Amino acid sequence: MTTVGIDAVEIRTGNLKLDLAETFAPAKDEDPAKYTKGLGLHSSSFPDVYEDIVTMGANAGKRLMDRKGLEPDDIGRIDVATESAFDHSKPASTYIAGCLEDVYEGDFHHANKGERKFACVAGTQAIDDAVNWIGSGKNRGRAALVIATDTALYARGDSGEATQGAGAVAMLIDEDPSLVSVDPVQGFGSADETDFLKPNQQFPSVDGKRSMQVYLARMREALTDVERQRDLHPDDFAVVPFHIPFPGMVRKGAALGYRHISRGTDVEEELAEEIGMQPRREDFEDDEAFRDALTEYTDSLTETDRYREWYDRTVEPTLGISRHVGNWYTGSVHLARASALKEARESGRDLDDEEMLVCSYGSGAQAEIHIETVQPGWEDEIAALNVDEQLRDRYDITFAEYEQIHEVHNYDETTDIDAFTTPEAEFVFDGWGRMGERK
Ligand code: CAA
Repeated sequence: MTTVGIDAVEIRTGNLKLDLAETFAPAKDEDPAKYTKGLGLHSSSFPDVYEDIVTMGANAGKRLMDRKGLEPDDIGRIDVATESAFDHSKPASTYIAGCLEDVYEGDFHHANKGERKFACVAGTQAIDDAVNWIGSGKNRGRAALVIATDTALYARGDSGEATQGAGAVAMLIDEDPSLVSVDPVQGFGSADETDFLKPNQQFPSVDGKRSMQVYLARMREALTDVERQRDLHPDDFAVVPFHIPFPGMVRKGAALGYRHISRGTDVEEELAEEIGMQPRREDFEDDEAFRDALTEYTDSLTETDRYREWYDRTVEPTLGISRHVGNWYTGSVHLARASALKEARESGRDLDDEEMLVCSYGSGAQAEIHIETVQPGWEDEIAALNVDEQLRDRYDITFAEYEQIHEVHNYDETTDIDAFTTPEAEFVFDGWGRMGERK
C-alpha cells in the first residue's frame, strides 16, 4: 500500500528575539525563573518590520522547494494554516503563491489554494486535508504544500505576553514520504469554548487559566477517541509531540496523557506499590473528589523514575526549539516533531519505523491525536534544516525596541521605525499594494 505523509519540512523564524530572562522579566519586575522554569521559555521570536505571516511562509516554502528541486508544476495544492490572517477574503496561500511565482519558472494557476482556520490545530487539519487529497487519487501525481504561519502576539500586559512568538513551518505532503507517514488512526475531542477568541480583533481575548483546563479536557477526549480504534500503551511511542503554547503546558498534558493510557496496563500495576492504583470514579462520592484524587495521583506519577524516563525520552526532546521561539500557534506541534527528530539525529538515536503519538490542539476548542511512523529518510531531511543558524542570527531587541515593534505589528501607522535587521535574499513586506517582494 502506498504511504502518504510529510516528505520534507522547513522552519522559518521571525528575525528578532526577545530574551525573557534578561530583557522581559526585569521590565516586568518578575523573577526570570517564572518564565524559564515555570513556563519553560527562554526567548520569543518576533517579526521585524518587513516580516509577516506571508513573508515567513513564503521564505519557508521557497527553501523547501529549492531543497527538493521542485517547480510550481510539481505542487497541486497550497494550504496555509493561520490564526493571524489579515485578509477576510483572500487566503494567505494566494499571497504566498504570488511571492513564489516571482522567483520560479511557471505558476500555480493549476493549484487549489485555501486557508485553514481552527486556532492552532489548523496546521494539522491542513495536513489531514492534503493526505486525504492524495489518498483519494485526485492529486494527479502532484504534492501538496502546507504552511503553518503565525505571529502569535498578545495585547501588552496580557497574561499570555510572555508566551508570544512568530514563525512558519512549511511541509511537503506526498506519497512515499521521507520524514513520517500519517497513519489512519485519528481521535478528536471538540467543544464550543470561549476561553480564547479574536472576534474582529488583532490580539486574542484570553482566559489563560481556563484555557489550560480546556486544553487538558479536549486532549483527554481525543485520547479516548483514539482508544476506540486501537489500544494504547505508553511504551508504544518513541516520540510524543504536543501542541506547545509554552513547555509548562506540555508538562501537564504529558502527565495526563501518560496516566490515561497506562490505565489497566502493566504500567499501572508496576507503579501500584509506589503510588497506588489509579483512582476509579465509582470509589468517589462526586466528580470533585474524584478530580482531586486524580490530581494527587498524577503529581505522584511525575515523581516516579518510570514516568521521568518516559518523559525524558518521548516528550522533553520535542520542546528544544520552542523554548527559544515561544508559541507559533499553528506551527507549534510541527516544531515539536522537528525538534525531536533533530535531537534524535544529533544524539545518534535510531527512529526508523518508530511510532509517534502526535497531540495537536486548537483553542475554541479541538484536540486531534493521530499516529505517525518515522520513515527511513528522516535523518537526511532533518540534517538539511538551518534552524540553529536562524536562531543564532536573530537580532536581540531591548525592551524599548520590543515596545515599538509590538506597536508596528498592531498596525499602528503612527509608529514608523526602521527595521532592526537587513533582509538577505528573502521575501519582505513592502506595503499593502505589493506583498512579499524578494530583496
Ligand atoms: N520560579 C519557578 N516557577 C514559577 C515562578 C518562579 N519564580 N513563578 C511562577 N512560576 C510557575 C507557576 O507556579 C506556574 O507553574 P504551574 O502552572 O506548574 O504551577 C507557571 O510558572 C506560570 O505561572 P503563573 O500561572 O503565575 O503564570 P500566569 O498566570 O502569569 O500565566 C498563563 C500563565 C495564564 C498560562 C499565561 O501564560 C497565558 O495566559 N497564556 C496564554 C494562553 C495559553 O497559552 N493557554 C494554554 C492553553 S490554550 C492553547 O494551547 C492554545 C494556544 O496556543 C494559545
